Amino acid sequence: MNDTNISLATAFAGLELHSCLYNASGPWCTTREDLDSIGKSSSGAILTKSCTLEERAGNPSPRYYENQLGSINSMGLPNKGYKFYGEIAADIQSDFDKPYLISVSGLSLKNNLYMLAELNGNSNVSAIELNLSCPNVPGKPQTAYDFKQVVHVLTEVTKVNAKPLGIKLPPYFDIIHFEEMAAIINEFEVSFVTCVNSIGNGLVIDVEKEAVVIRPKGGFGGIGGDYIKPTALANVRKFRELLRKDIAVIACGGVKNGVDAFEHILCGADAVQIGTQYHREGTSCFSRIAAELQDIMKNKGYAKLSDFKGKLIQY
Ligand code: SIN
Repeated sequence: MNDTNISLATAFAGLELHSCLYNASGPWCTTREDLDSIGKSSSGAILTKSCTLEERAGNPSPRYYENQLGSINSMGLPNKGYKFYGEIAADIQSDFDKPYLISVSGLSLKNNLYMLAELNGNSNVSAIELNLSCPNVPGKPQTAYDFKQVVHVLTEVTKVNAKPLGIKLPPYFDIIHFEEMAAIINEFEVSFVTCVNSIGNGLVIDVEKEAVVIRPKGGFGGIGGDYIKPTALANVRKFRELLRKDIAVIACGGVKNGVDAFEHILCGADAVQIGTQYHREGTSCFSRIAAELQDIMKNKGYAKLSDFKGKLIQY
């Protein structure tokens, strides 16, 4: 049961969300049915699967595996093509009273610029999350690990884009890299960053079978779930410290309950995405985790997110 005296409302990039919890661009956000289910749920927003210029079937199966500690995936961007997500935007906006964000992950800068220009003409698209961190397309690097290329991409993208723009980042592991990346982002018209995509190119092994658990790329894939929570928290915390104050930080990584969401907000997250747990549980995770987060807030005497957002104590 949600406690109406305790608000989970948040705002970023000019968007207002009744709940700070919503889906990560990943599981169950590819088809119209998926997106309708998110619309009907307690999710604070609707975010699509990362789209490409053309529809893609993605990598061969099995391409997703999970255990109690988390998940590994090498989906390879299966999606219905950017046109589909643009065409349904008006219906989604009229059916559901929440922001509709499209995740864009072109296979080239040219494709990204084309999709962004087209989606910018669509007033029913609330914002774009530009995915610069997919680790799963064979032969395509994770752009956000190449700082020179990020400068080039953001220079070109911000010429064609006038919508609220977010960037989905991979996890970083070195303070110098946090600083370099934040300094780059601070130079551009970016409204939010999403920290983090999966930890790329991990390996999970089935000891019984003495085999990898997914087929693409020899079993290598992006790691999510509990495995990545400390890394995700560190990225949220560091980017919150280093980015311009008008750039929101959206957390993603290892959120399966109210405690996890609370920790991300304590690190400075303006909103919290749910990936692996949404894959496991379906849309009921949004109301369950909301109720758990409200419980924690109530016990601590907090009525709204700003009562504790970013207030992590350091010794
Ligand atoms: C995938 O479709 O391979 C996952 C997308 C991503 O990690 O960015």
